[in-house]
Amino acid sequence: MPLPTADDTLRKDIMRFRTPSGADLTTRNDPYLAWQRAREQAGLWPYFRSYATPLTPHATAVSDTGVTTAGPNFGGQDYLSLTGHPEILEAAHKALYTYGPLTAGSPALGGGNPLSKALEAGLAEALRTDHVMLFPTGWASGFGTIRALMHKGDHILLDKLSHDSLRQGAAASGATVEFFRHLDNEAVRRHLAKIRATDTARAVLVVTEGVFSMDSDTPDLAELLALCREFGAQLLVDVAHDFGAMGERGGGQLEAHGILGEVDFVVGAFSKTFASTGGFLATRSSSAREYVRMFGGPQTFSSAITPVQTAVALAALSVVTSEEGARRRTAVRANAVRLRDGLTGRGLEVMGDVVCPVVPVLIGDTATGRTASGLIARAGLIAHLVEQPAVASDAARFRLQVMAEHTAGDIDAAVGILDACIGEARRR
Ligand SMILES: Cc1ncc(COP(=O)(O)O)c(C=O)c1O
Repeated sequence: MPLPTADDTLRKDIMRFRTPSGADLTTRNDPYLAWQRAREQAGLWPYFRSYATPLTPHATAVSDTGVTTAGPNFGGQDYLSLTGHPEILEAAHKALYTYGPLTAGSPALGGGNPLSKALEAGLAEALRTDHVMLFPTGWASGFGTIRALMHKGDHILLDKLSHDSLRQGAAASGATVEFFRHLDNEAVRRHLAKIRATDTARAVLVVTEGVFSMDSDTPDLAELLALCREFGAQLLVDVAHDFGAMGERGGGQLEAHGILGEVDFVVGAFSKTFASTGGFLATRSSSAREYVRMFGGPQTFSSAITPVQTAVALAALSVVTSEEGARRRTAVRANAVRLRDGLTGRGLEVMGDVVCPVVPVLIGDTATGRTASGLIARAGLIAHLVEQPAVASDAARFRLQVMAEHTAGDIDAAVGILDACIGEARRR
């Protein structure tokens, strides 16, 4: 492949490197590396930045090429601003000194401790369900649950924009996988009717998310659940972004849609609202829980989350379900509204119809997105560009993530920087 040109670094997308050819695995990705390096040199590579500070509303992020961005931080996922909460830090210290830094192994082989039991019980109560199990990450919870439950001959219907973990779990399960148009319950009905016309013997799992974090929108979950019941299908909802951060009591979109405790399988992550890493499956089925515990690969063959991660998620859950949690949700919502209004007021296109902590700003054209991203990083705003493969090639966007402790000044500064840099990128 010829060396990348300036036009390549600005416009070409990453997907053309997904099917490399050549017999030597150590060299056949050299064209990809040349393209990445060229983007880095042109200042058009926003990925793999690291944070030099905690995930506070003001933070410092440093790129692989040494560009330092210090300023308002809209690139973290700490929606309720819990990472610096004194009770949570205290719980982390206590767990470290009580149980040590490591677990014995996977949950199947001694990876649990009293904190994990308490966290499972707390999540079951918050989600009004009976059975919860923990996973090492949010990604593993979606992947592991679907991969364990579904088999060849079964059917999986996924929203077209479902998260990678859900898609990969479906692909690995061996079941027949079909995608339906984003949020389109009528399309789900057509798929279900077609499947059930010829197959009433096998399982059908419908998969969606509480809030789609690239788009800030949500399905009509109550209607979707009713459809599943009508056709003898089960529903799985990934609540990674909404559980804890939304809903009057923190029950996320399931609470908002009045179906908390009714969905067959709920998977989620601690990496957003719960200030930790790890994930969970919550279900009313005792046998499904035990089966996934034994056959859910990442659960059985990967080490359990550490005592510190578990203690942090548990302490965060206690804040989430308290009056303080409700106040923090009100604050993050008000901040999201202020950000959405500010951006719209400057003529920028804000995506989505639910007010949630994620505020996506549509750019469209990849070249403009990459140029704007470089300018924004230098102007002192931490905000992530999302481009293909995470979104379609003509739908690049900035995904801003609001926190409860952002101030009005942080938000107004972000609006000003985005407006100026996107405007500048469009003029170039
Ligand atoms: C819907 C959804 N599910 C799962 C995950 C993965 O969560 P984690 O980063 O905790 O593995 C994410 C995070 O990007 C997500 O958006």
